[in-house]
Amino acid sequence: MRAYCCETLGRIADFTLREVPEPCPGPDELRVAVEATALGFVDPLVMRGLYQVKPPVPFVPGGEIVGIIEEVGEGVSSFVPGQRIACWQFGGGLAETAVVAADRAVPVPDGLKPIKASALLLDYLTAYYGLFDRGALRPGQSVLVTGASGGVGSAAVQLASASAAEVVGLASSDEKRAMVAALGASLVIDYRDENWREALKAAFPAGVDRVFDPVGGALFEPSFRSLAKRGRHLVVGFASGDGIPSLPANLPLLKSGELVGVDARYLSESDPARVREILAIVLAMGQSGRIDPPIADVFALEDVREAISCVSASDRLGKVVVTP
Ligand SMILES: NC(=O)c1ccc[n+]([C@@H]2O[C@H](COP(=O)([O-])OP(=O)(O)OC[C@H]3O[C@@H](n4cnc5c(N)ncnc54)[C@H](OP(=O)(O)O)[C@@H]3O)[C@@H](O)[C@H]2O)c1
Repeated sequence: MRAYCCETLGRIADFTLREVPEPCPGPDELRVAVEATALGFVDPLVMRGLYQVKPPVPFVPGGEIVGIIEEVGEGVSSFVPGQRIACWQFGGGLAETAVVAADRAVPVPDGLKPIKASALLLDYLTAYYGLFDRGALRPGQSVLVTGASGGVGSAAVQLASASAAEVVGLASSDEKRAMVAALGASLVIDYRDENWREALKAAFPAGVDRVFDPVGGALFEPSFRSLAKRGRHLVVGFASGDGIPSLPANLPLLKSGELVGVDARYLSESDPARVREILAIVLAMGQSGRIDPPIADVFALEDVREAISCVSASDRLGKVVVTP
């Protein structure tokens, strides 16, 4: 079978598509024929060896996987060959066949296409866990989403809006702001305007209840300052690339506010059952049409280098998916 892999992390150019032996599922594992693998912000970072966790090599990138089970390993009773499953794990998806842990897999509901299902995994898991588990967001509350056109941000816009929260998005270009509005935000602000907080204050004079923040950087402190009393700022990521921001400790005191971390990887290590619950919820929402992940482009496995470039393109609108 073909897999896109490399023996050393560091240079994306060193990853190549090559013939490798068919993987065998071990105990509690599944072998799946991959149908679609979505890529995100983290994948090029892992390939470059710049992510906080370094996977063992040889490494096959792509952890947002949808496929059909070909074989179940010893001890697996919850799945049978022929079922379509989705899972998020650290890699393995940029290949014709992947081995996944059965306790990370969930069935894909009938009628939900593999490409769409693959786009509903890490970003929607992170957004759901952030907004509802860590953020305790309730209907009628307001949430400011930074990076609202990105993978995690657009998932947060859709999920918050579907739960009857009022969503404000921050995004740069006209095209991105139009997309964020179409995803459910009632207000979308160009954060490049230095007076962006004035537009937010005009709509929410007492502040917003939650900030969902995958960007950090220069938006971090002004976003926290935009919270209402007893508000909660959800720290999701640092897509701005401006390093790790800090916050004067008097601000949480003045707001009676909270700064709360959101880490999907920790959730998946500590509570795989909750990951399965959340994935089942978002896949069901995708099947019913309550949410619809935007797809930027779909690439064949032969064109995976273009797919990786597309992930890093600043004008990308939606998720990048690879199909074998
Ligand atoms: N905590 C977790 O469990 C978890 C899980 C997944 C991802 N993440 C992290 O979340 C972050 C975002 O991931 P993603 O997949 O959503 O990335 P993405 O699809 O590339 O989106 C990032 C968004 O950030 C915005 N942005 C970039 N630089 C900015 C700046 N200087 N100021 C304001 N906005 C800026 C961009 O929109 P504009 O063009 O509008 O600027 C872009 O749409 C990453 O740091 C990733 O590692 C965390």
